[in-house]
Amino acid sequence: MDERICVEDIFLSLGDRKVFRGFSCCFGRGQISIVMGGSGAGKSTLLRLLAGLQRPDRGSIRVAGEEITRLSERELFRVRDHIGMLFQGGALLDSMTVYENVALPLREHTRLAEPDIAAEVGRRLAAVGLPDTEPLYPRQLSGGMLRRAALARAIVTDPEIVLCDEPFSGLDPVNVRRIEHLLTDLSRKLGLTLILTSHHLPSSLRMADHIVFMVDGQALCGSPAELLASDDKRVSEFLEAEHNGHPRPAPGATGVWQAPS
Ligand SMILES: Nc1ncnc2c1ncn2[C@@H]1O[C@H](COP(=O)(O)OP(=O)(O)OP(=O)(O)O)[C@@H](O)[C@H]1O
Ligand SMILES: [Mg+2]
Repeated sequence: MDERICVEDIFLSLGDRKVFRGFSCCFGRGQISIVMGGSGAGKSTLLRLLAGLQRPDRGSIRVAGEEITRLSERELFRVRDHIGMLFQGGALLDSMTVYENVALPLREHTRLAEPDIAAEVGRRLAAVGLPDTEPLYPRQLSGGMLRRAALARAIVTDPEIVLCDEPFSGLDPVNVRRIEHLLTDLSRKLGLTLILTSHHLPSSLRMADHIVFMVDGQALCGSPAELLASDDKRVSEFLEAEHNGHPRPAPGATGVWQAPS
């Protein structure tokens, strides 16, 4: 695997919780990786660590060949040029139009002139199936439209790495499929390194090249098939809890998960 992001032996305590306890995993270039795990396992925190929005207590995080844990804020800003982020819940700014929301990363990370910004915003909104929504405010969009607009904002600077926190949460099945196809399509067409967190098991199993399962502050990594075949009790309990009429892992199948070190 051509590793675009490598996390090694991370420790991080938040409040009195040891959220990461020797956590290691890598994310391949051009792959779709899905981070799974129970609520509070640390999925959102992992994305924040990868984007340099949070520093670990110790351990190494290399993004595009660069060790980011020791970078200054100014240097981190430069690394974030390569990263698009879709936060949990979408998080468009309510006081701004769709146009201004999607233009924001261009204003922060580039020196493009207004006509170029307008062209770029229009192109991205068309790509997510939201043409002509520029003048609307977030409150005028449905949940699925909001998520797609947030996705347009995440990809507007042409990042090579896109981090999406729970892109399917709160969406109806039609919109789940839509976002799923959109993400898969963008990833394949643009060669994005896409890292999503998700509770949505069917989408995750359909989309993922690689799954990182977070448990007890560590990572179990493998393909979707390996996830389904795992005999790790913590994995099978999670799969059963998330199971929605989709195939459960074969009971007693041989575990091929990489054990936490
Ligand atoms: N700033 C903070 N201060 C203290 N504790 C925090 C902070 N941020 C996160 N935590 C704790 O860290 C743990 C991991 O939180 P995180 O939001 O990463 O979980 P998650 O896996 O994304 O959960 P969910 O599936 O509910 O989104 C939780 O126990 C949370 O309470
Ligand atoms: Mg979260």
